[in-house]
Amino acid sequence: MRKISIIGAGNVGSTLALLIAINELADVVMIDVLPDMPKGKALDMLQMLAVFNSDVKVIGSNNYEDISGSDIVVITAGIARKPGMSREDLLSTNANIMKEVAYNVSKFAPNSIVIVVSNPLDAMTYLAYKILKDQGWSRFQVMGMAGVLDTARFKYFISEKLNISMDNIDAMVLGSHGDTMVPIISHTNIQGIPIRNLLGEQDLNNLIERTRNGGAEIVSLLKTGSAYYAPAASTLIMIKSILHDKKQILPVSVYCQGEYGYHDIVIGLPVVLGSKGIEKIIELNLDTDEKQQLDKSAEKIKQLCQELYTLNIVGQGG
Ligand code: NAI
Ligand code: 2OP
Repeated sequence: MRKISIIGAGNVGSTLALLIAINELADVVMIDVLPDMPKGKALDMLQMLAVFNSDVKVIGSNNYEDISGSDIVVITAGIARKPGMSREDLLSTNANIMKEVAYNVSKFAPNSIVIVVSNPLDAMTYLAYKILKDQGWSRFQVMGMAGVLDTARFKYFISEKLNISMDNIDAMVLGSHGDTMVPIISHTNIQGIPIRNLLGEQDLNNLIERTRNGGAEIVSLLKTGSAYYAPAASTLIMIKSILHDKKQILPVSVYCQGEYGYHDIVIGLPVVLGSKGIEKIIELNLDTDEKQQLDKSAEKIKQLCQELYTLNIVGQGG
């Protein structure tokens, strides 16, 4: 059985553990700083699995030794947004948590592929990569989950507006996991029909705006935290593509070395995801306007990553 470890057994982490276990994808380890809580969730899940006659193993622990031998490690540790907070507000708190987590991952799961979920996503993935690259990880083995979720939201809003099946919709959201994310309209089709043939500019702009605001809309309804069902499912899709070497093209946050003209930032781009992690970054032909929006998103990410240096969380040597 393969092994997946999840650091942070909160809402996203434990929902993801549940999905992995129910799908019998792998044995699961949940690590958290809170005493007993991950053990309690694991025990509950094991008893759920007994209902299904499933032999998947679930461990909840406060001890990083339990993640040894992991094929994939997902990092969801940190604090989540409360109403009125932007993802960026989480930067300093979550950066210090990420630092500690990344060092432990490098020590105890040196052969793992790492998926970062903690916010602000682009900066946290950048930070995790900067730490892990010094321990031998390539930029294709450390990635962030955001684009799959943002695309799912965009698809849901399109399907609701046009009253059509999700099956018919091809869409992709790139860029930052923030207000400057870029739904790629030039590549959004309904059974091959360009979406601009089916929706007017105003309707389309409303859907784009709602997508950009998708996380905050849920925060304002939940009041005590942020979304977790769709984020966990989005991470699961990435895990499946890696574990089953499906080579799916998915929007994933990746460290750039010149792709799309970007250097030394992590940004959401279409990639091929397989057993080695990111196997290729796909360079799309974007409209001039879309490329400008993506550049704006990259600029915003650059500023946020710069703060990691200002706060002395990443050394100036990079
Ligand atoms: P949560 O608060 O339910 O869970 C976070 C867990 O991390 C808690 O159980 C906490 O005890 C644990 N934790 C804190 N410090 C830790 C440490 N040093 N080591 C291990 N565990 C630690 O939050 P939730 O809803 O699960 O969200 C987790 C993170 O994921 C947040 O930063 C949130 O903003 C982000 N997120 C990102 C999404 C994306 O699309 N990338 C989507 C949804 C959430
Ligand atoms: C979301 O998009 C808060 O990033 C989280 O739901």
